[in-house]
Amino acid sequence: MYRSDPRFSVIGDRLRSIDTVLVVASPKGGVGKTTIAALTALAAAGRGLQAGLLDLDLTNPCTHIVLGVDPGLELIEEEKGIVPPRIHGVSYMTVAFFTGGRGLALRGGEATNVILEILAVTRWPRLRLLVVDTPPGIRDEVLDILNIASTIHHDSRVVVVTTASRMALEAARRLLGILRDGGFRVAGLVENMATGARSGVDELAEAMGVEVLARVPYDPGLEDALGNPPALLKTRAGRALEQLLGKLF
Ligand SMILES: Nc1ncnc2c1ncn2[C@@H]1O[C@H](COP(=O)(O)OP(=O)(O)OP(=O)(O)O)[C@@H](O)[C@H]1O
Ligand SMILES: [Mg+2]
Repeated sequence: MYRSDPRFSVIGDRLRSIDTVLVVASPKGGVGKTTIAALTALAAAGRGLQAGLLDLDLTNPCTHIVLGVDPGLELIEEEKGIVPPRIHGVSYMTVAFFTGGRGLALRGGEATNVILEILAVTRWPRLRLLVVDTPPGIRDEVLDILNIASTIHHDSRVVVVTTASRMALEAARRLLGILRDGGFRVAGLVENMATGARSGVDELAEAMGVEVLARVPYDPGLEDALGNPPALLKTRAGRALEQLLGKLF
C-alpha cells in the first residue's frame, strides 16, 4: 500500500544518506525504549559518529525530554524540506516539533500518514546511524515503521528492549516471533534495568537465536540527568550503552 504513495520514493531518497537505521521497539510499555534510543544516539555522537534520532511515538513522544529540547523550537524550513536541528551532536527530529508537544488523537490510517509525512519532509544529513524510537505495541505505527525501513533501506535493524520481568519477556518473545516471520533483521536484545546476573533475557536470546547486545543497569540518578546529555552519558545507564555501540560497529 505504501508503494503507491508518491511519498514513498521521496522517502527512499531521504534515507539514502543514512548507513544504518536502528529501530528500537518493544510491545511492552515503559521498559526503556525512549531512554535507550536517545542515549544510544547521544553515545554514538559522543564517539564522533554522525548520529541521528527520530521519535515516531506519535501519541507520546518523549525523546525531547531526554535531550532537553523545547518541542516548540522553530524549525528551519527549506524549499526542499526540513533539516533536523543538531542537539549535542545528534541530528534530531520528533513528531513533537509539529505538535508543539501536544497530544495527537489519530485513528487508523492517519498515523501512517503522519509517519510518511515526517519521513518525506526530513532532510537527514549524512549519518552513520539513525536511531528510531517507537511507541509500545506491535500495531499500525510500529508495523509501518518496520515495513517502511526494511523495504526502503538497505541496512535497517531492530533492537528489542526488555526487562527481565516475565511479562516483558513474553512481550519481547512475541515481537521477536513477528520479526522473524516477517523477515526483519534483528540486531538483538537490550536488557534494561539489568541486575548483572543471568536472567530470563539470556534464556530468551538463546531460545530465539539472537544476541544480548547490552545490559543497562537500573540507575536512580537517571531521572535527575534527563535533559542534560553530558550528565546522562556519565550515568551507569549511559555508559552501558557503549556496549551496544561496540556490538553494532
Ligand atoms: N536503566 C534505567 N534506570 C533508571 N530509570 C530508567 C532506566 N530506564 C528507563 N528508566 C525510567 O523508566 C521510565 C520508562 O522509560 P522509557 O520512557 O524510556 O520507557 P519506554 O519503553 O519508552 O516507555 P513507553 O512504552 O511509554 O514509550 C522513565 O521514567 C525512565 O526515566
Ligand atoms: Mg517511549
